[in-house]
Amino acid sequence: MTRRPPKACVVGWPIEHSRSPLIHRYWLKKYAIAGSYERVAVPPQEIETFLTSLAANGYVGCNVTVPFKEAAYRLLAHAEPMAKRLKAANTLWLDAGRLHGSNTDVHGFLAGMGEEAPGWRDEEGPVVLLGAGGAARAIAAGLADLGRKRLRIVNRTPARAETLLGELRIEAEIFDWADCARALEGARLVVNATSLGMTGAPPLEIDLAPLDPRAIVADIVYAPLTTDLLAAARKRGHRTVGGLGMLIHQAAPGFARWFGRWPEVTDELRALLKRDIESKRWSYSD
Ligand code: ATR
Repeated sequence: MTRRPPKACVVGWPIEHSRSPLIHRYWLKKYAIAGSYERVAVPPQEIETFLTSLAANGYVGCNVTVPFKEAAYRLLAHAEPMAKRLKAANTLWLDAGRLHGSNTDVHGFLAGMGEEAPGWRDEEGPVVLLGAGGAARAIAAGLADLGRKRLRIVNRTPARAETLLGELRIEAEIFDWADCARALEGARLVVNATSLGMTGAPPLEIDLAPLDPRAIVADIVYAPLTTDLLAAARKRGHRTVGGLGMLIHQAAPGFARWFGRWPEVTDELRALLKRDIESKRWSYSD
């Protein structure tokens, strides 16, 4: 029996903006692997059927993006520890016909940080996390697992931050935006995990003056590549970390599962994505 080349995809709603196909197709070509990776738009009422019919539709697995990461988690026969912890899965694969899943956002964030701000794990001092949505939840878990203390979460809806802490069983101080300056006081790391500052979304307007001068400023937003937050931070002499690293690194574990080798994050891949992001005027509100 001839084996068909493995086929994977990314599902979301909407999905047009996803850059996952660009990343996986780059790796498939680089390693001359006969496989494919496509984008599939699935309306919310059809997601359960889609994910439970992966094998029947010829897929070896898929990535799952907004707004289906929680729904995907609930359908798993087996969840890896981080997916369990976050109650959300973004990478699914079939094992003996059963749906397995993991959450690779934490890996993506940590790897991106390690690449652009080497040594950051050894630093201490307050950390400010802006946001309490799905991305913030992954980053909070990653930081807590590294033993990072003195976490401060700033969110428009403080109740959502309370829920995040309760579900992850971690401790942090919670601030609303009006108190952002107080949260930033003496901080050594700031991570924007909101959608503010993304092309088409409202701007992120914060004054970085209260930060410790040695602070690292990170943004998970990657379109634009240099957000206003990163530009302001650089101007003040802070080390900065953009969102591109997280985007690329979160893709690697899925590629390894489906196509059988751990892929490298090359400068060429970064340049490819940069060109794509700069050339498209995709807007968050599209
Ligand atoms: P994701 O999965 O990308 O994290 P999300 O779960 O919708 O997306 O979370 C978006 C984050 O951006 C949240 O922290 C959200 O704040 P709320 O929890 O108060 O909704 C934040 N955010 C989005 N638009 C915002 C705005 N206009 N002002 C302030 N915060 C905003």
